[in-house]
Amino acid sequence: MSTTAGRATEQPDEEERRGGFSSRRVFILAAIGSAVGLGNIWRFPYVAYENGGGAFLLPYLIALLTAGIPFLLLDYAIGHRHRGSAPLSFARLRRGTEGLGWWQVGICFVIAVYYAAVIAWALRYTFFSLDLAWGDDPEGFFFGEFLQAGDVRVTADVVPGVLVPLALVWLAVLVVMALGVQRGIGLTSLVFIPVLVLAFVALVVQALLLPGAGAGLDALFAPDWSALTSPSVWAAAFGQIFFSLSVGFGIMITYASYVRRREDMVGSGLVVGFSNSGFELLAGIGVFAALGFMAQANGQAVDEVASGGIGLAFIAFPAIISEAPAGALLGVLFFGALVIAGITSLISVIEVVISAVRDKLDTGRLTATLAVGVPAAVLSLVLFSTTSGIYVLDVVDHFVNQYGILVVALVSMLVVSWVVRALPGLGAHLNVHGRPRVGTGWRLLTSVVAPVGLAVVLVLALRDDLAARYEDYPAWLLLVLGWALVVALPLLGFLLARLPWRAGTHLDGPPPGSDPAAPLHAPATTAPTPHDRPQDEGGPR
Ligand code: ALA
Repeated sequence: MSTTAGRATEQPDEEERRGGFSSRRVFILAAIGSAVGLGNIWRFPYVAYENGGGAFLLPYLIALLTAGIPFLLLDYAIGHRHRGSAPLSFARLRRGTEGLGWWQVGICFVIAVYYAAVIAWALRYTFFSLDLAWGDDPEGFFFGEFLQAGDVRVTADVVPGVLVPLALVWLAVLVVMALGVQRGIGLTSLVFIPVLVLAFVALVVQALLLPGAGAGLDALFAPDWSALTSPSVWAAAFGQIFFSLSVGFGIMITYASYVRRREDMVGSGLVVGFSNSGFELLAGIGVFAALGFMAQANGQAVDEVASGGIGLAFIAFPAIISEAPAGALLGVLFFGALVIAGITSLISVIEVVISAVRDKLDTGRLTATLAVGVPAAVLSLVLFSTTSGIYVLDVVDHFVNQYGILVVALVSMLVVSWVVRALPGLGAHLNVHGRPRVGTGWRLLTSVVAPVGLAVVLVLALRDDLAARYEDYPAWLLLVLGWALVVALPLLGFLLARLPWRAGTHLDGPPPGSDPAAPLHAPATTAPTPHDRPQDEGGPR
């Protein structure tokens, strides 16, 4: 039976208050914008190369089809049916599970705080590319002149070269968030995703024309079939898919809650899932073509120059840009793509927090944006514009990715499947709204295959982290910013779940009208109601 926390809610008011995407196309672009991020550009190419090259594509494809897309559809079903932020959607699914939503909110807050710093670096490097500011020592420049990183210790020594671009990134993000779901997130995606695709295609074409590109592609795609017998290769494929698709940590639940009721969520999920992987492959080709060029130019093998993450973007790529013909263009395209892909992911991450605050406290868009964005920006500036920023970032990123995102994803999948037993209802919801139909296969993948895949990833990661200190960082740093942080987030989540909801919030079950019996393309018998209409929020308060 449905209950409300106070007076009965008029659903149209709630839809109007929350806002929404104006069309399915805008939603798909926003979801692609969220999925395509730093993970695609700097993580995928190296993960694929290290884990069997061409042979890695097999576990990758299997992970995408058996875990990534099924879980993406689960997130869509939860958000679209329950029409709320992650905590509200979970509360409506079953009251006791609200804490899972807040746990996801906490993870997103932490990710936003450090993700912005990497975008700020990329922004600065877009301009550095114009005059090759790193000279002939990109590594020394990055750690020395740019980040001014000293010993591994937490300091308060501010680095103005990071502070200014970081402040600009936060300013831009807060403006987008304050503008709302459609006018802010939707329009940003509508404009910047096509720009990102164009920039990336241009980058890949330029990289493919470099001498030595073929050797790079050989190194990336040469299949090492023996890798397929290694559990860690399969774990890498599952780990990559979850981070890259932005599933399991609240983003897709939140975005799906902004989609009009009678939309095809399954078809949208397939478009988003395959677009994200297409972009990942494109990134692999572009990055390894460029690495092949560098290897040839320096008379080295590709494995001597290949790297991922910070090393790829801020050390290897600057070296390539210095040596390549029209290097400045290559640099602007590469770092510009990182900035755009990063910003469209960052806005989806921070929206998880803003949306939750708005739902819980009934605040206006502007108030929630400032209440979430200002502390996040201040924390980001304090932690990452100092000389110790790089170490803090590396540790938090490692632990939040491994034991934040993957653990909350695993726990929520198990709770939804086996405790709440919500899969039949959620599957039925997807089938009312979308094609192809999901059935027993989807339920099996979501409740068994994907959790097993995730559990293996976690066990292997835990084994490595317990066997040796991550990157040899001091134990206290790993304890405080790693283990303590990932344990604190679920505890905080379940504490926040104890706070009361704003008066009138419909809880326990999807809001009225969420499970229409009408098929997807049934002719409308009445004029569209506010349920069906896209709306932006009722204005800042
Ligand atoms: N999915 C986003 C990325 O790949 C978070 O970076």
